[in-house]
Amino acid sequence: DLDQQTIDIIKVTVPVLEKHGNEITKVFYQRMFENHPELKNIFNQTNQRKGDQSKALAGAVYAAAYHIDQLEKILPVVKQISQKHKSLNIRPEHYPIVGKYLLLAMKEVLGDKANADVLGAWERAYGVIASLFIETEKEMFKEMKDTVGGWTGFRDFKVIRRVKECDVITSFYLVPADNNPFPAHQAGQYITVQAEIEGEPLVHLRQYSLSCAPGAGHYRISVKREDAVNDLPAGIVSNYLHDKIKIGSTLPITAPSGDFILDQTNDSPLVLISGGVGLTPMMSMLGTVVKQQPERMVYFIHAAQSSNVHAMHSAVKEISHRYNQVSSYVIYGHPTYEDKLIKNHDKEGYIDDEWLTKILPTYDASFYFCGPAPFMRTVYQLLKGHQVDESNINYEFFGPASSITG
Ligand code: HEM
Repeated sequence: DLDQQTIDIIKVTVPVLEKHGNEITKVFYQRMFENHPELKNIFNQTNQRKGDQSKALAGAVYAAAYHIDQLEKILPVVKQISQKHKSLNIRPEHYPIVGKYLLLAMKEVLGDKANADVLGAWERAYGVIASLFIETEKEMFKEMKDTVGGWTGFRDFKVIRRVKECDVITSFYLVPADNNPFPAHQAGQYITVQAEIEGEPLVHLRQYSLSCAPGAGHYRISVKREDAVNDLPAGIVSNYLHDKIKIGSTLPITAPSGDFILDQTNDSPLVLISGGVGLTPMMSMLGTVVKQQPERMVYFIHAAQSSNVHAMHSAVKEISHRYNQVSSYVIYGHPTYEDKLIKNHDKEGYIDDEWLTKILPTYDASFYFCGPAPFMRTVYQLLKGHQVDESNINYEFFGPASSITG
């Protein structure tokens, strides 16, 4: 436990660190990668270049430090981050490395503003926070090991089927290369793919939501090919998967992780809202609810630019025809001429309050949504406008988490 003096120092200095947050974070990653280049294989280098993700780790350390005398308050957040860490195979021995370079970066950036007392307090605080993460992740690793068919780290899966879902999204069906059992995921969870790409000095890790319901006899990921836009280069891993991964290829993956999962103990109406490739966890939830909760009303709302980039439309139509409990709706931002002729969609443009209010019988429902950040912000604000309780609002970011609530 930390003494009061340490706690006081931390509380007083959190704002100072936050003020210099970007600079400290930059120096932290720079120094850490210089001395531990192997960690470049773990951290998403594309996000590093964009600078988004780099703030998350250090930002979370400050946030945790702020609650250092009541860490139980941040346990839900710790658990969520630990799911990500588990999926990336982060190990206890990684923590002292991060701690060391975070401290060094503080010292370098703050200079005289950080004396030995301040640095000492932060070293102790980091130790306490790191222990909390390490313990949480140890539990998770143990649970994975104890699950029938479960595993830790990476395991080779082979591709048994590939399906082009639309112009930009392709599905890959995966089973263990060793043909041994593997555990069912929970609807909404993701896995990490390790891509070893010819000519690339680093391996690349990427998370993909599983897009099939559990118990299908395989896992399935559905990957959007990311083309180059403006100054952003094309997605290294998504293009590799689309171009090089065929039936019979193997992909090392980690076991399913994540706490964006369908709560099946709840039987209030379920509203699944997705934008673009954000539909992948929703497909898993949709397939699950019709099997497990046949009485539950389900509203499946999907927004895409047009039918050209609309994945799994016929699968969703089939489910909504077969199961009375399901109503499905399609919104196209820019429908094609043909879309307009044959009315492939229920709404043109973007999701809005008037339309959503018309199709939903009630806002007293469980909402799950996933899609691009601006889309999620819109949905979140809309639900808040109808006083939907936080406990009924569930969402998942693809890529670095950013704020949609502010
Ligand atoms: C992601 C916090 C330690 C590696 C994250 C995220 C947070 C975070 C908030 C973003 C989660 C998300 O986007 O869903 C922390 C805190 C740590 C810590 C508070 C220490 C107490 C570590 C360590 C490693 C690590 C020791 C490994 C060396 C990663 C990686 C990501 C990540 C690779 C994914 C993002 C990326 O690829 O850039 N962490 N982390 N973290 N963390 Fe940690």
